Amino acid sequence: MPDVAVVGSFNVDHVWRCDVLPQHGETRIGTYSTGPGGKGFNQAIASARAGASTSFLCALGDDVGAQLARALADADGIALVDQRSEHATGTAGIYVDAHGRNAIVIGGGANGDLRDSFVQSQWVVLAQARVVLVQRESPAEAVTAALRIGREVGATTMLNPAPVNADVDADLLALADILTPNETEFAALLATHGGTTIAPDAVVNTDDATLHAHCRRLLPHGTVVVTLGAAGAFVSHPSDALRGDAVAMYSVPAYPATPIDTTGAGDAFSGALAASISQLDQPFAEHVRFAARYAARSTEVAGAATSMPRLAPLGA
Ligand code: RIB
Ligand code: NA
Repeated sequence: MPDVAVVGSFNVDHVWRCDVLPQHGETRIGTYSTGPGGKGFNQAIASARAGASTSFLCALGDDVGAQLARALADADGIALVDQRSEHATGTAGIYVDAHGRNAIVIGGGANGDLRDSFVQSQWVVLAQARVVLVQRESPAEAVTAALRIGREVGATTMLNPAPVNADVDADLLALADILTPNETEFAALLATHGGTTIAPDAVVNTDDATLHAHCRRLLPHGTVVVTLGAAGAFVSHPSDALRGDAVAMYSVPAYPATPIDTTGAGDAFSGALAASISQLDQPFAEHVRFAARYAARSTEVAGAATSMPRLAPLGA
């Protein structure tokens, strides 16, 4: 019985490392590597390596990328179920600078063909999960169908609203028990659904009470966990659903790390949070602390999916 079901994307990542990211019109010399990624797949790997039995629904082409996805899922004990697409398996071009910061362009390919009908055909897989986790690198209808099934069967539903330029509509938002935006995604969601504009780099300097008020408007009935990179995470619960915590709002510090590649750090956080929630009955703050530690460790290794540490929460 899977603890966590992830519905989302798989990409073959093509990664160039250089000292400084190129400006418009600039050519720079760096080094190249390739490896598995995609926000969905990264989160599934994180979940599995954090000790949760994990299933992963995605759309793949008929190519080497698809074979890679299946082989890697197999190696980590993930039950991968794919919808076959006539398009090429997804790809991402990633530039990483000397500080481990990145810029990414996604060629979604097959990921764009994930259908809600396919997700519904896998009802049994989703119905067995304790946590259903989705992102926005796959079509809205498909991930909405997944969270709807999660709701129907009483699973905890989680939405990682990434990447930032993918729309999140009100229906999808309302289906999330837990929302995990980074500061950029949080600012974008506030502008479209929270009735407030705030600059992404101002989020980290905003006081807790104000952030909490923003979160309550954004997701009145759910928990929001805003990830803030080196500044840790901010948690906001509805006052009548504290998930085992003593207070409705608080910050969790980042776990110390010496990052060399932050690609997939947000995925590490969401996957580890889902895995911890599915395995342990403890205050929510403990799940967040584990996810923060897990994500920090992932930044100390290059790559996305392959950088996920084998690290389970204490007691799981
Ligand atoms: O979140 C990191 C991921 O974003 C990369 O693995 C890349 O594939 C893109 O989906
Ligand atoms: Na990494």
